[in-house]
Amino acid sequence: MIELRGVEKIYRRGAEELHALRGIDLDIAKGEFLSIVGPSGSGKSSLLHILGCLDRPTKGTMKFDDLNVEHMSETELDGIRSRKIGFVFQQFYLMPGLSVFDNVTLPKVFSRQKIDVDKIASLIATVGLHNRMKHFPNQLSGGEMQRVAIARALANDPEIVLADEPTGNLDTLNSEKIFDLLRSLHRKGYTIVMVTHNNDLASRADRTVLLKDGLQTAA
Ligand SMILES: Nc1ncnc2c1ncn2[C@@H]1O[C@H](COP(=O)(O)OP(=O)(O)OP(=O)(O)O)[C@@H](O)[C@H]1O
Ligand SMILES: [Mg+2]
Repeated sequence: MIELRGVEKIYRRGAEELHALRGIDLDIAKGEFLSIVGPSGSGKSSLLHILGCLDRPTKGTMKFDDLNVEHMSETELDGIRSRKIGFVFQQFYLMPGLSVFDNVTLPKVFSRQKIDVDKIASLIATVGLHNRMKHFPNQLSGGEMQRVAIARALANDPEIVLADEPTGNLDTLNSEKIFDLLRSLHRKGYTIVMVTHNNDLASRADRTVLLKDGLQTAA
């Protein structure tokens, strides 16, 4: 489904160059549950952003469903993002002025698709928040906010869900619950990639990629 070859990411700030990824080769098969671990600054988010087409490699190639991504225009990348990818962030990034229901419909609004009320409601039920549809983010716990963010990531029927430290702002109990939710989505057929600092959760994925200084090392 995803194939990276020799992927490098260099951030430039003025004359300064920062080599965040130094040559990553990675294949992700449909239906996998992959975790990415590594010290702070090792390039985990940079890699996830490339996998999610939020950013392009500086060097190397990336194929998504056999489409070469590195030369695509912003519009083409945007199309892949909205049709194939669901992204979940550590900080949830919910819209404070919108209800749970409206937050989950946002990807549909942005991609100008028709809103199927029943389908949105069933997504919210999938993440266990059927009795919170009209609540606003500030009326929810951290774990509940992350559930809303996961439901939102599923709104456009993505092929893959990419989560950048989805449990980073949660206590142990809620981290377990979010992990269980990701695992249940995996059982339903979603491909899942999760970046985490939690080695216990990471080890429960099918496969772990360990990054160090922008390179993969054996896990
Ligand atoms: N937009 C940017 N501009 C310049 N440097 C950046 C940018 N984003 C990341 N970096 C640098 O690239 C390196 C890798 O960053 P990245 O965010 O991928 O690490 P990470 O493994 O996700 O770390 P953490 O566990 O702290 O989230 C770091 O040294 C970081 O400072
Ligand atoms: Mg990060």
